[in-house]
Amino acid sequence: MSISVIILVVIHWSTKLSKESDAVVEEEFFWGTAASAFQVEGHPVADGAAESDWYRLTHIPEMIVDGSDADIACDHYTRWPEDIEIMREIGVNSYRLGVAWPRVFSAPGKINMAGMDFYDRLIDHLCAAEIMPFVTMFHWDIPYWLVEKGGWVCRDSSSYFAEYAGALMERLSDRVKYWITLNEPYVYYHSYITGWHWPFEVDEYGKLLAALHNLLTGHQLAVNICKERYAENKIGMVLSYHYLLPAHDTHEDRLAVTQADGVRNRWFLDRTMHGKYPQDILELYGKYLPDADFSELRGDAFNAPDFIGLNYYSPGIIQYDRSGSVYKFSSPVDDFELQPTVGNNPAGLYEMVARVERDYGPIDVFITENGYLEYAREYEQKDPTQDYRRIDYMQGHLSELRNCVNAGHPVRGYFYWSLLDNFEWRWGLSRKYGLVHVDKTNQDRTLKKSAYWYKNYIAAYRQEQARRKCSEKAESRRQSWLPDERID
Ligand code: GCO
Repeated sequence: MSISVIILVVIHWSTKLSKESDAVVEEEFFWGTAASAFQVEGHPVADGAAESDWYRLTHIPEMIVDGSDADIACDHYTRWPEDIEIMREIGVNSYRLGVAWPRVFSAPGKINMAGMDFYDRLIDHLCAAEIMPFVTMFHWDIPYWLVEKGGWVCRDSSSYFAEYAGALMERLSDRVKYWITLNEPYVYYHSYITGWHWPFEVDEYGKLLAALHNLLTGHQLAVNICKERYAENKIGMVLSYHYLLPAHDTHEDRLAVTQADGVRNRWFLDRTMHGKYPQDILELYGKYLPDADFSELRGDAFNAPDFIGLNYYSPGIIQYDRSGSVYKFSSPVDDFELQPTVGNNPAGLYEMVARVERDYGPIDVFITENGYLEYAREYEQKDPTQDYRRIDYMQGHLSELRNCVNAGHPVRGYFYWSLLDNFEWRWGLSRKYGLVHVDKTNQDRTLKKSAYWYKNYIAAYRQEQARRKCSEKAESRRQSWLPDERID
């Protein structure tokens, strides 16, 4: 073999190998856990942060079911190095964290450097630990200065959000490759319809629509900034996907499911993916629409996101509502207490992923939340680390996840909710989702059985991948040694 042939062969193999290793990096599946800022950090007004709606809410007597507040929560604000160590121990390669807007913007137009520095440090250390940060910009805590202007109902809220999103990307985009604009915008249903969240208004459909419209416009503006200035990064939104089943197998209940699906899923997916709201639901909302000032979509460019994050816990049961309320459906098991009894339904995870691909095209999907709830009363009666039901739940859902991947659906990652037992909004510390028990008296962390189970699951997955890659390589080498037909 002449020297030039040897050189060509070497070049061929080195490009081939580097292409293969690029493919390995690209195809890496993200295994992680998810959290939001307010639920884990504690110290919500430290170091110059503004107060938030949730901070205020937690200090109204009897607002939180178990009388707790989030002033300490999991003390992640000071214990984050230990939490990163725990993530390393479990073997995750990604972490979905939230940034608290009130920490970063202490007043309109005013960046609070100490707040920004906190996230900068946290992200640096995650990167050093080879844990990919997926950053949620907004996970429900609105700076109180914006609440005073009307919160998301105020028309300028989307511009304030865009300013905040731009500042985050400017500071962190060199390390944060995955951005999530909003977490579950549908939650404002609780602010303006059920009255469960701040500002506790009931049946204010006009305000709900205005808030949702401003949220989705804020999302659009943030996506546009990312596309214009940080095109190498990926940006998407996280939705609480409602996998809906009819309460009875009747024509009416099935129609009610279509309507509920429109209100809870298509309203967000159509707007985000296609830039417009679904026609049937626009008609349903009818007279409430003008409040949202839909006339003006502000002429902003439409860009679809790079991915969709889907949160899935359990199905929703829907029945036709004869009382003729705005929506002609009700949810007999929207009662949170009852959800877990119908809750362990892994098939919903598969359906959700398949449906999004079928109706919205082959967009990358991340399961951004999925987790098992234990109530304090059941939790405190036993050793909290022996959480076999959680393992059972995870096993079922991860097996459906695997089915999705095997069927070729573009699912790229899974984030268990949550790493730690955290502050569950109005339920306070009385509801536990964590892989890790947090002792509320001294903040000691103890890994539960489920944490070890997840660790083994991830390790087994990686081993299987490595084995597959190895045998693929061996096969392609074997092929390359087979004599050419020409030579025969
Ligand atoms: C949500 C939120 C989380 C919750 C979690 C458990 O989905 O409601 O994203 O903040 O804590 O879902 O209820």
